[in-house]
Amino acid sequence: GVKMTENITWHEGEVTYQDRCAVLDQPGLVIWFTGLSGSGKSTIAVEVEKQLVAQKKAVYRLDGDNVRHGLNSDLGFTPEDRNENIRRIAEVAALFKDAGLITLASFISPYQESRAFARERAGRDNFIEVYVKADVKTCADRDPKGLYEQAKKGEIDNFTGISAPYEEPVDPEVVVDTRELSLEEAVNQVLAAITEKLND
Ligand code: PPS
Repeated sequence: GVKMTENITWHEGEVTYQDRCAVLDQPGLVIWFTGLSGSGKSTIAVEVEKQLVAQKKAVYRLDGDNVRHGLNSDLGFTPEDRNENIRRIAEVAALFKDAGLITLASFISPYQESRAFARERAGRDNFIEVYVKADVKTCADRDPKGLYEQAKKGEIDNFTGISAPYEEPVDPEVVVDTRELSLEEAVNQVLAAITEKLND
């Protein structure tokens, strides 16, 4: 079939990305948190968001549980649906970045290729991949939502780490090992990487 985009042209406005950044006094960034369910992605992102707002930064946070209630409410957890989930989020994050926001995205995002796409869309210089590292056993022991227990009993299909894969990041800018670091230490490690970008 004919793709919709064939009849659409890109309309340039007169306000640029640089203009928007000048208003906000910051570059747009995408901070991409990846890791297993229960690794601590959201907890860290929530705290980073709070600290950045305290520094008067314009921030927006995208999170699996809320995006899947709205924009991606039509998607489940098959490999195809996860790819589409992350594709849409990568596009949204790139738009928010283009708006000049520090965008925090925390999704399992188990596939390397999807994360590479998110990086590409944001622009390599404006992207920080944070691997929130915790192995399956650690996450299953924590099991904050009781999902691992259900998955082990076969009550949830395609559960990451149990019956679906998680591809570890190849070259993440930041690795926070949540078994060794306190929340505060993990947050500080992410904030340090962001501050470095802001001062570039
Ligand atoms: S993905 O893989 O990036 O598309 O996943 P994401 O959008 O981040 O959604 C993960 C949250 O959905 C809940 N959930 C599942 N996770 C993994 N596998 C299966 N099958 C599944 N079913 C539901 C789970 O609560 C995840 O939340 P987090 O915050 O990661 O613990």
